[in-house]
Amino acid sequence: MSASRTIQSLAGRVAAPTSRLQAVRCYSALARAARVSATPAVARPATRSATAVPARTLKTLEFGGSKETVWERADFPKEKLQQVFAKDTMAVLGYGPQGRGQSLNMRDNGLKVIIGTRKDGRSWKKAVEDGWVPGKDLFPIEEACAQGTVIMNLLSDAAQGPLWPVVKKHLTPGKTLYFSHGFSVVYKDDTKIVPPKDIDVVLAAPKGSGFTVRRLFQDGKGINSSIAVFQDASGHARERIAALGIAIGSGYLYETTFPKEVYSDLVGERGVLMGAIQGLFQAQYEVLRAHGHSPSEAFNETVEEATQSLYPLIGEKGMDWMYSNCSTTAQRGALDWKKPFYQVSKPVFQKLYEEVLNGNEARRSITKNGAENYREELEKELAEINNSEMWQAGKTVRSLRPENQ
Ligand SMILES: NC(=O)c1ccc[n+]([C@@H]2O[C@H](COP(=O)([O-])OP(=O)(O)OC[C@H]3O[C@@H](n4cnc5c(N)ncnc54)[C@H](OP(=O)(O)O)[C@@H]3O)[C@@H](O)[C@H]2O)c1
Repeated sequence: MSASRTIQSLAGRVAAPTSRLQAVRCYSALARAARVSATPAVARPATRSATAVPARTLKTLEFGGSKETVWERADFPKEKLQQVFAKDTMAVLGYGPQGRGQSLNMRDNGLKVIIGTRKDGRSWKKAVEDGWVPGKDLFPIEEACAQGTVIMNLLSDAAQGPLWPVVKKHLTPGKTLYFSHGFSVVYKDDTKIVPPKDIDVVLAAPKGSGFTVRRLFQDGKGINSSIAVFQDASGHARERIAALGIAIGSGYLYETTFPKEVYSDLVGERGVLMGAIQGLFQAQYEVLRAHGHSPSEAFNETVEEATQSLYPLIGEKGMDWMYSNCSTTAQRGALDWKKPFYQVSKPVFQKLYEEVLNGNEARRSITKNGAENYREELEKELAEINNSEMWQAGKTVRSLRPENQ
């Protein structure tokens, strides 16, 4: 999160891009602003069938004082992606939000993509609606594994363990196993996923839902993703996962490891990104309502102003800039009250990190989401949120936005 924040705050110093070309130029300006240093990439000789990625220079930027290497879309134009994966068939397993977004983006980038999902399930039907053709580029999971050279495991994390014997059977030397989460490999004691030694094992993890992966790509933008190498049998795994990270639609890529990706990701979604935000919204809304404020007032002061006015400002130029564009009354209060909120929430985040690290969170997720009726159960809990007064009020508030009338 800190990396993307720094990029965004740097972005504030250059004009917002309005076209793809401008976006590229904008990134160049960013690079200059962040004192770019270029180091030649070190390519090891090929030992397997994976195609080598043409040599490039690695770009090192400063992120709040720390140096990190990044890869950008400009490093891998469409033609280069097609060259890198010329001999590959990308077999995307699963057609949930990530499977859908990543496969459609790769297809638009001119790569050979096939989908593997359970026949006639919900995902299968969705894939057919999107134009994938059964027997041509849509197959049952095992058939897709047999045909693919890059097996992109985008099944739900809970399904990856039970389906591992099917996938493993087709992981012959020279193939690549890809994930968008370090989950299955890191929590191997629970998932039993231990890849064979003679294949590359890599990940590219988009920092957002698959829906956004697709939408940003279609808008000529790109999601930020992390990339990591778990096993490098080909000698080209690092460069190939960088190319693949861009092929799925990312804008820029930062490097991590499988364990760091999974720990930060599980903490993030349980914390500020999803769990904490609903908890905070609900707590403030309920206090306002208990003091006699109308649903309209409570919702506007809790959610609507946040998502429609202030959070986009944070995204654009950072927290201090959002503060400085609010009244001095608001600034004084926010500066004073951020401390008690920080003090009560930090121990909760520490506890959350421990629960992620000791595997409890992963086990809970595998058990709950591995159940036969996992979707119905999730939908029941989501319906509770949807039916709450706060989010029902939100529907009415959203309907009143001029653009929705
Ligand atoms: N923020 C994000 O959403 C995000 C970001 C980065 C990475 N990821 C990672 O991307 C991967 C995919 O996640 P997702 O968001 O696309 O969706 P998901 O809901 O986790 O996975 C959905 C897919 O898994 C399939 N599936 C579930 N149980 C199955 C079973 N028993 N047998 C066969 N298929 C089964 C579903 O098929 P059916 O429709 O037939 O049930 C569907 O195609 C995960 O590793 C996730 O951690 C997610």
